[in-house]
Amino acid sequence: MSPFKAFLIEEKEGLTQAAFVNLDETQLDPGQVTIRVAYSSVNYKDALAVTGAGRIIRRYPCIGGIDLSGIVAASSDPRFRPGDAVIATSFDIGVAHHGGYAEYARVPAQWVVALPAGLSLHAAMALGTAGFTAALGIVRMQENGLHPGKGPVIVSGATGGVGSLAVDILAALGYEVTALTGKAAQADYLKGLGAKAVIFRSALDLTRVPPLAKALWAGAVDNLGGEVLAWIASTMKQGGTIASIGLAASPLLNTTVMPFILRGVCLLGIDSGYIGEPYRSGVWQRLASDLRPQHLDEMTRTIAFDELPGVFDDYLKGRAHGRVVVEIAGA
Ligand SMILES: NC(=O)c1ccc[n+]([C@@H]2O[C@H](COP(=O)([O-])OP(=O)(O)OC[C@H]3O[C@@H](n4cnc5c(N)ncnc54)[C@H](OP(=O)(O)O)[C@@H]3O)[C@@H](O)[C@H]2O)c1
Repeated sequence: MSPFKAFLIEEKEGLTQAAFVNLDETQLDPGQVTIRVAYSSVNYKDALAVTGAGRIIRRYPCIGGIDLSGIVAASSDPRFRPGDAVIATSFDIGVAHHGGYAEYARVPAQWVVALPAGLSLHAAMALGTAGFTAALGIVRMQENGLHPGKGPVIVSGATGGVGSLAVDILAALGYEVTALTGKAAQADYLKGLGAKAVIFRSALDLTRVPPLAKALWAGAVDNLGGEVLAWIASTMKQGGTIASIGLAASPLLNTTVMPFILRGVCLLGIDSGYIGEPYRSGVWQRLASDLRPQHLDEMTRTIAFDELPGVFDDYLKGRAHGRVVVEIAGA
């Protein structure tokens, strides 16, 4: 393997810095599967990691990128052979083990999933951790009894990666979806993904959230935490289910037990990072079949590897929408 290009995150004098460097094979982390990376993607967590805005990186230096898809170059694990198309996301990738922003990655075999039939390497990264997490949240809510007949489902942070994919997948499954967003200009985008209604955060009084308010939602996908999650909890229907996915607004939750006790609301914690089999392969298989989003191309833009440093600011400022795929070696 000749020297390869990587976007390396380092800590220097207490500050996080990230830059393109050339590395060689000996600098890759240990693992059974070496992958020629075709595509990676950009998630909120990547923006926190690369900029140092969040304490995400647990081992410096670390190649960024929590997602990657590509072709196996070498494998000492019998489950994977050179030439196989694979996806690797989650676990320590891009936070404590070199990630997807590089022409090569080497990872433990148990972090690798075979690319499901019907999904391209590019589509796998248009989905990425965002799609995996949205689908996992929906699967967990359905296991908890949610179905379209129970009533509307609200999605917060709706224009983001997880949000856009949750709106799309839920609408395709026949749910009546309400999108909650901070972006007035993106109402048409959200309706195009299948949202029946769009609510703007500015229209909510989040300063005084009562313990229980008018019951509106049978299900909720929450990407924000904080006051929005408190408001969602107070507006859930009897027996409603919330998938708590993100903290883009706040890690705090100031609510009461009333929705959980008096309305039997369930708050499901969704952890895409360390959930193992059978969920991991099962959810990826379903993303290629019954949970396949209908508008993946419309919500995705693809950037060249060199453009990567310019994308993170929008994520930190809540301005990004949809998904960004990073073309590394391409398919
Ligand atoms: N639990 C897990 O396993 C898991 C996996 C993936 C992601 N996550 C978390 O889920 C969240 C969404 O991830 P993502 O990759 O979809 O992020 P993203 O693409 O950056 O989307 C986040 C969206 O949240 C809204 N938002 C952002 N900053 C905000 C703020 N300060 N106040 C209120 N709203 C804000 C914006 O949507 P609107 O303008 O439409 O409101 C934004 O587009 C993040 O917190 C991420 O860390 C968790």
